[in-house]
Amino acid sequence: MLIRKNYNKIGSSEITDESIYYQRRDLMKLAASAVALAGTPLFAALSYERERSNRGLELTSYDQITTYNNFYEFSTDKADPAKLAKHFKFKPWTLNIGGEVQKKMTLDIDGLLKLIPSQERIYRFRCVEGWSMVVPWVGIPLASVLKHAGLTSKSKFVEFKTLFDPKQFPEQGESFGNISFPYREGLRIDEAMNPLTLLAVGLYGKELLPQNGAPIRLVVPWKYGFKSIKSIVSINLRERQPHSTWNDMAPHEYGFFANVNPMVDHPRWSQARERPLGKFFKQETLMFNGYEKEVAHMYKNIDLRKFF
Ligand code: MTE
Repeated sequence: MLIRKNYNKIGSSEITDESIYYQRRDLMKLAASAVALAGTPLFAALSYERERSNRGLELTSYDQITTYNNFYEFSTDKADPAKLAKHFKFKPWTLNIGGEVQKKMTLDIDGLLKLIPSQERIYRFRCVEGWSMVVPWVGIPLASVLKHAGLTSKSKFVEFKTLFDPKQFPEQGESFGNISFPYREGLRIDEAMNPLTLLAVGLYGKELLPQNGAPIRLVVPWKYGFKSIKSIVSINLRERQPHSTWNDMAPHEYGFFANVNPMVDHPRWSQARERPLGKFFKQETLMFNGYEKEVAHMYKNIDLRKFF
């Protein structure tokens, strides 16, 4: 499988459980400088890993990440997606890239990973509801995908959509649900091109499970989790700001930007602190979820209380 091929470059073997995964991370750290010298695409991933590890990030367990999920197409109960998504079919899968691009593309996931090698990125993830986790994602930079399609002067925003298939997603068939499907999200083009923005295809070195958005989902680590749209089937470049599900539903509660900001509270939840999954004590939330250095420049002239 392509994801593992990438790891094989640094000599890791089959990944089976979390304890082995932790050992493997140490191996990866040791291998990092050698790989960096070789100049392979893995360098970026490993340097991120070292940087994050230095800040003392502790990974959330695989079990927590894959059993506590927000995936409204399955259910509003966080324990349900892991059970209801067991038979979700995501092979074959087609991803369309279109809109204001030079070259429209239709790819399957293997085709995409052949085009752009996957990397590992360990990121903080913060939900607006006040919980958080640290996830070792496997993915490809969204910027690399967009470069393949080619941007134009009209590529100002990126619009994402989740699969619409009521046979697979029980809640999409419910006429009295409170979300209108398909789930949609959007980014400004500079946010989409930021090197941190990832299209994830795996976590903990394994393929994504359906409850986490298989086979491909967005990860924007300095934004609240609802921006990280799951099971994406289309990415369209747009000249105007696209619709996004939560912003459409309750614009006074969920902004289009949705940048993690401990100083701007959600009407129902303080954003000053967060509870890491699996932990009893809360911790302070960091500006831009700890990625201020990498992203603050994009919001320099913006009133973050108004554009939350
Ligand atoms: N994407 C889709 N298609 N449907 C959803 O309900 N929930 C969002 C986001 N992406 C959601 C989605 C929310 S609110 C969060 S917090 C994250 O997915 C949760 O991701 P996780 O289950 O991998 O933790």
